[in-house]
Amino acid sequence: MDSQSIATAAYIVAALLFILSLAGLSRHETASQGVLFGIAGMTIALVATFGVVADLADGTDVALLLVALVIGAAIGLWRAKVVEMTGMPELIALLHSFVGLAAVLVGWNGYLEHQSFGLQSLEDIHNAEVFVGVFIGAVTFTGSIVAFLKLSARIKSNPLVLPGKNYINLGALVAFALLTTWFVIDPSIWLLAAVTVVALALGWHLVASIGGGDMPVVVSMLNSYSGWAAAASGFLLNNDALIVTGALVGSSGAYLSYIMCQAMNRSFISVIAGGFGIEAGPADDTDYGDHREITADDTADLLKNATSVIITPGYGMAVAQAQYPVADLVRKLRDRGIDVKFGIHPVAGRLPGHMNVLLAEAKVPYDIVLEMDEINDDFKDTSVVLVIGANDTVNPAATEDPGSPIAGMPVLTVWDAAEVVVFKRSMATGYAGVQNPLFFRDNSQMLFGDAKDRVEDILKSL
Ligand code: TAP
Repeated sequence: MDSQSIATAAYIVAALLFILSLAGLSRHETASQGVLFGIAGMTIALVATFGVVADLADGTDVALLLVALVIGAAIGLWRAKVVEMTGMPELIALLHSFVGLAAVLVGWNGYLEHQSFGLQSLEDIHNAEVFVGVFIGAVTFTGSIVAFLKLSARIKSNPLVLPGKNYINLGALVAFALLTTWFVIDPSIWLLAAVTVVALALGWHLVASIGGGDMPVVVSMLNSYSGWAAAASGFLLNNDALIVTGALVGSSGAYLSYIMCQAMNRSFISVIAGGFGIEAGPADDTDYGDHREITADDTADLLKNATSVIITPGYGMAVAQAQYPVADLVRKLRDRGIDVKFGIHPVAGRLPGHMNVLLAEAKVPYDIVLEMDEINDDFKDTSVVLVIGANDTVNPAATEDPGSPIAGMPVLTVWDAAEVVVFKRSMATGYAGVQNPLFFRDNSQMLFGDAKDRVEDILKSL
C-alpha cells in the first residue's frame, strides 16, 4: 500500500476520533476522555501528514515541516500555559485568525500551483473552490483580528455604525456572488485579488459593527467560519480529514452561537449579520430604594441555620478565583448535613462552560452542579442562596421589566428563596450595564468585598 492510501485511512480514523471527542466534551463525566480522543486524533493526523511528505518530498521539505511543527507546538504550549481563564476568548479569537489566514494561503496556492484537470467541468469546480475558500478565510481572518483587538481592549468595543451598514454587508455579498461567476468563466488573478480585498474588508466591518457585549457570540461564530474555511481548504487539497474536521467545527460553532444567543435573548441573525437591527436601550434612572448589607459572620450564622443552600456563581467568582474556598465551604456545609447545590446559568462568566470548568478545577462533585432549567423550581424551597460574583444572570428585571435591555433573557430565579446573599465589591452593574433590582429586595443582603476574601472569612467563622 502506498503512503497516500495509508494516510487516507489514518485521516478517517482521526475524523472518527474527533467526533468521539466532541461527544465526550458534551458531558462533565466524559470531558477528559473527550480531550484524550481529540489529542489522539490530532496525533494520528499529524503523523499521517508527516508520513506522506516524507514519502513524496525531499529532505528539505521534511526539514521545513519539522521546523514548522516544532515552532507551532512550542508557541501553542507556551500560550496555553500562561493564558488566564478570563483571557481565553481573545486567545481563541487570535487562533481563529490563523485558520482564516491559512485558508486564504491554501486558496491562493491552489490557484497559482494549479495543474490542469483536463475536464472543463472539474476546472470550474476547482476555481469555485478556490474563490469560496479565499472568501471565507479572509472574512474569518480580519473578523477574528477585530474580535481579538476588541476583547483585549486594544480598540474600543463600541459598535461601529457606518451609514447604510447593512447595505455595505449586503453589497459585499452580492459582489462576491458576481465575482465568483465571473471567475469561473474567466479565472483571472485580478478577480481573485478583488475578492480577497472585498472579503478582508467585509470581515473587518462585520465584527467592528458588533458591540463588545455580543463579542463572545461573535467568537463562537468566527469559530464556525474558521471550520468552513478549513473544510473549503480540505476540498482544495483533497484531504478528507480537513473536510470532516472543518465541517464538525463549522456546524458545532454555529450551534453553540445559536444556544448562546438564545440564553442571552439576542437575535442570531442580527449577530451574524453584523449587528443588524440592534438599538441602544433607554437609560435606567429608576429609584430602587435602599439595599441592606451583611457581614461574613452573619452570613455564616445564616448558613449554620439553613437546611438547603444553592450557590449561583458568576464572572466575579472567576475574577476573584474564589472557586477553591467555595469548594471548601461546600464540603463544610455538607458535613453539617446541609443540602448544597450549584445553579449554573448557560452564559454565566465569559465563555460557555466557564463556571463548570472552575468548579471542576476545585473538585466540586458533578452531581450537585445543576443547569438553570434543572434548578429554577428549587429556589422556592431553599433557605439561603449565595450569589457569588453573578449579576446579569440573576437579574429579575429580565423577567419582570419588558423595557429592560435584558428583557426576555432567561435568568436564575434566586429571589424565590427565603434569603439571598450577594457577594460583590460594589453596587456596580454587570456585563450588560443594567442595574439589578434583586439587590434592593427585602430578602436580599449585600456582602461587599472580593469574593475569595469574603468566602474565606465565612470559612473562618464557621
Ligand atoms: P456579570 O453580570 O458580568 O457580573 C459579574 C459581577 O461580578 C459584577 O457585577 C462585579 O461586581 C462582580 N465582581 C467582579 N469581580 C469581583 C470580585 N473580585 N469579587 C466579587 N465580585 C466581583 O456576571 P454574570 O452574572 O456571570 O453574567 C455574565 C454576563 O456575561 C451576562 O451578561 C452574559 O450575557 C455575558 N456573556 C456571557 C457569555 C458566556 S458564554 N458566558 C457570553 C457573552 C456574554 P463588582 O464590580 O461590584 O464587584
